Amino acid sequence: MKELKDYVRTIPNFPEEGIMFRDITTVMQDPDGLKLAIDTMQDLVKDLDFDVVVGAESRGFIFGTPIAYNLHKPFVLIRKKGKLPAETVSIDYDLEYGKATLEMHKDSIKPGQKVLIVDDLIATGGTTEAMIKLVESLGGEVAGVLVMMELAGLNGRAKIAGYRLDSAVTYEGK
Ligand code: PRP
Ligand code: MG
Repeated sequence: MKELKDYVRTIPNFPEEGIMFRDITTVMQDPDGLKLAIDTMQDLVKDLDFDVVVGAESRGFIFGTPIAYNLHKPFVLIRKKGKLPAETVSIDYDLEYGKATLEMHKDSIKPGQKVLIVDDLIATGGTTEAMIKLVESLGGEVAGVLVMMELAGLNGRAKIAGYRLDSAVTYEGK
């Protein structure tokens, strides 16, 4: 039987020389890969108590929405700057390849709600850390972080030390 890693395509030297890009499009394009990814991720958090799933534009939406749907939980969108129409909170953060801003609606999380943060990938952890800060600024309680892939060589796990992190596949490099 194929494992989740077998569906991930590795592209050397993208977007820069020396980077091994772990491409999830090949996971999503295969119905068995898609199912395995969602089922594996969901299984990792079956013991976790949470009220809301939060995911960041854009790849976080791919994995967060089906999990929220399957578990009949709300799905809250974190979006890139300027996309959300109602009142927002925002945070600037460093990306592996630059800087960015993420925003979320002020009324999307109620104080005390337990939140599962979902994304495709944790690399440096900058995006995850920014999402945690946004959720907490609205009074949400981060119950855990769930990603499909962890690039262990970039130490994202250390950046969010103290928070539970579950990843479906881990790559040792960057
Ligand atoms: C990528 C990826 C994660 C983040 C991980 O998102 O989807 O969200 O980077 O990197 P980090 O741990 O170093 O922060 P990106 O900002 O490229 O946008 P996308 O999801 O819209 O592709
Ligand atoms: Mg992303």
